[in-house]
Amino acid sequence: MKGPKHPKNDITINPSNNPSIVEIIEGIDASRRRFIGTTGKASVAVGLAGVYSGSFMHTAQAAPLPASLGFGGMGFDSIPAKLAPVANSVEVPPGYKVEVLTTWGQPIMPGGKDWNPDVAQQGAAEQEKQFGMHNDGMHFFPFSTRRGPSSERGILCVNNEYTDEVQLHADGPQVAANPSTVSIAKTRKSQAGHGISILEVSKTANGGWGVVRNSVYGRRITANTPVRIAGPAAGHPLLKSKRFNITPTSSIDTGAFNDGFSGFGTINNCAHGYTPWGTYLTCEENWNGNFGWNAADPAASDPSTAKGQVRYGITATGFNYNWHLTDPRFNARTNPLEPHLFGWVVEIDPNDPKSVPVKRTAMGRFKHESAQTAISRDNNNNLRVAYYMGDDERNEYVYKFVAAGAYNPNNRAANRDLLDSGILYVARFTSTATSTAKTYRGEWLALVPDAVSVIANGNGGFYKLRELTQFGALADGVANSNDAEVQALILIKTRQAADALGATMMDRPEWAALRTYGNGWGYSTANGTGLGYSAQYPLEMFLTLTNNNRRGGGGSISVNSPNGTTAAGSARPPVDLANPRPDNDFGHIIRWREDGNMVTATGFEWDIFVLCGDTATAKTLASNYQNANLVDGVAGTGAFYQGNILDNPAGSADLGAPDGLWFDQFGRLWIQTDQQGDAGGDFNNIGANSMSCADPNTGEIRRFMTSPANCEVTGVVNTPDGKTMFVGIQHPGEDAPVSNPIQNSTWPQSQFSVNSAGEPLALVPDANNPGVKVAAPVGAPIRPRSSVLVITRIDGGVIGA
Ligand code: FEO
Ligand code: CA
Ligand code: CA
Ligand code: CA
Repeated sequence: MKGPKHPKNDITINPSNNPSIVEIIEGIDASRRRFIGTTGKASVAVGLAGVYSGSFMHTAQAAPLPASLGFGGMGFDSIPAKLAPVANSVEVPPGYKVEVLTTWGQPIMPGGKDWNPDVAQQGAAEQEKQFGMHNDGMHFFPFSTRRGPSSERGILCVNNEYTDEVQLHADGPQVAANPSTVSIAKTRKSQAGHGISILEVSKTANGGWGVVRNSVYGRRITANTPVRIAGPAAGHPLLKSKRFNITPTSSIDTGAFNDGFSGFGTINNCAHGYTPWGTYLTCEENWNGNFGWNAADPAASDPSTAKGQVRYGITATGFNYNWHLTDPRFNARTNPLEPHLFGWVVEIDPNDPKSVPVKRTAMGRFKHESAQTAISRDNNNNLRVAYYMGDDERNEYVYKFVAAGAYNPNNRAANRDLLDSGILYVARFTSTATSTAKTYRGEWLALVPDAVSVIANGNGGFYKLRELTQFGALADGVANSNDAEVQALILIKTRQAADALGATMMDRPEWAALRTYGNGWGYSTANGTGLGYSAQYPLEMFLTLTNNNRRGGGGSISVNSPNGTTAAGSARPPVDLANPRPDNDFGHIIRWREDGNMVTATGFEWDIFVLCGDTATAKTLASNYQNANLVDGVAGTGAFYQGNILDNPAGSADLGAPDGLWFDQFGRLWIQTDQQGDAGGDFNNIGANSMSCADPNTGEIRRFMTSPANCEVTGVVNTPDGKTMFVGIQHPGEDAPVSNPIQNSTWPQSQFSVNSAGEPLALVPDANNPGVKVAAPVGAPIRPRSSVLVITRIDGGVIGA
């Protein structure tokens, strides 16, 4: 049914109605179902529709593009910076409408219970059927119809990165020194709040968008969901951690061990990716923080494992989840191999609710932020798929995985294991100039057994990775000739392998985004194939470097040791051309173009798209940072924090700490921010976190959205017609005390009482009718909740146009 808010110029499926059930059924491609499942057993009958799985996902169905190199233009003016004290609301430009699609605790599958604002009333069992906490990256998989991908119905896969234990539990976090705060029930609820939420979303009768509450696609994947492990590291002894019998009330050590091909759970799923064959990729980021140990627990007997834990930031207290107090699976000393089961990219088939998520070890193990795909033809005219990935920690690296096999766009099943073999590369951003100003060369270093490290072997040469003890050599110089063994160790210890190759330490790599040119997917139709790039439309990747307070400085310079022993985040490398600002707290966006416009290239050219900052900067350079700092390749002292954002008037769209990054199908670059604090300190002119839009041709930036207090803006995707945008707000009101969880925010309740479908965000007892619950009004004292927003234009047009 078409409501009054239905876009006026919608040209999608049906000019007068939403797609009928018949239309959707006829759009089913049965081969797209039950894709990843490892057994031959039939899954549950999958619902009405197949997910559209062509390379359509960015296919524009409307909105003709201006000719300016595929950039669709910005038809809105910058909205003001949101200065402190930050109001608990979301703002969008005039002519736009913002609503809540879903929020922490909303039921998303059959049997799901309404969220209860009294969090003591609900535990893991309820959370396992509700939208998880702290949503991050997400992707919309439109349903397939006879007329192409639907812009009115589909599956939204959303990462639930982590939990705020203050908001999750009535009595707050588990504190080791206070046993009354510790329980397996709280651990299980926290684990259930992590992972992925898969929900069917649809246009609703009121003209909004809603979650299909009883959808067969509705699914939660949590810290305890069975997973499969595939690729070169699968089956390796380092993945054979203790096998636990996981129940709601305990994790019982069975005395047996995992087989290296299976395990449980995915956690700290930050940003994401997707494949051209219609699967979702979720990236495990700060998983180290969920492990811990007790003071009396002895360190791992294998010193290599202990070193690996240091390199990945695993400590006794972790991030104070304290799961290990009641769930020994997460004790990194008594179960020291379990951390090797995390830090991967995980592939999920949203089409099949019974499919087993698969950890793809070929893509490396680190603190994965996101996985951005690109496709190009190789010299044999095969379609090749690559993923561009950041490791988000101070002074970590940028990676690329190139699948070995050819992508088959006509046979989904043929791509089932495409991500299990290929080459993982790490980036070196060199200072070798090109013929273009401020543009330099870069190299992709293959993480393979014969890769030559930067560690001298004493004979005038350098060790190969296979000659280093951390990758299985018997002793330095006595090579391990077992390629499979060495490759598995390189992938399990990806950070150490990248250290050994001398990769470039970066200012916290966050999201990568493939530039699009209005034809979807980033590739051009200019060369007639629709599947290649061209000189005019190069294969160009952008990546956010969010900040780094351990860059440059005075006498304390150090780098990640090539021998792989540096503690995570502890180095303080000097500035370099790719990371040119000392104490970089506003971050920047770097970009590169692959040689020959091919994903298989091993060389690229790079430049910096924008240095973020505050035009009227309040930040001054500390005296110990005055030496040899660089901006635009020039050493010296100067104004390092203003950045070079192009906006009109100057300073009107300043931003800092870029994190989420995404090109829409019309060539617009969307930038989301994740600053610490809340519009204070160095951000007092920039204001609260935001989402901005950039013109990739000129660099012009306009601020599109501002956020509630103490949150992060993360996650963005739109429908194929570009007329509905889903945007995530994470951890509103964080850092509240246990004694007053709503101290910093009650958003979204502070702005909304119902979601886009018209359903109450929260139900509270009716003061006048005992036993009856009613919708909580705007402003009710409800705990803050991470949420996904729906943004539409009141005139029904394309977002941003
Ligand atoms: Fe979860 Fe790097 O942000
Ligand atoms: Ca500016
Ligand atoms: Ca992020
Ligand atoms: Ca971040």
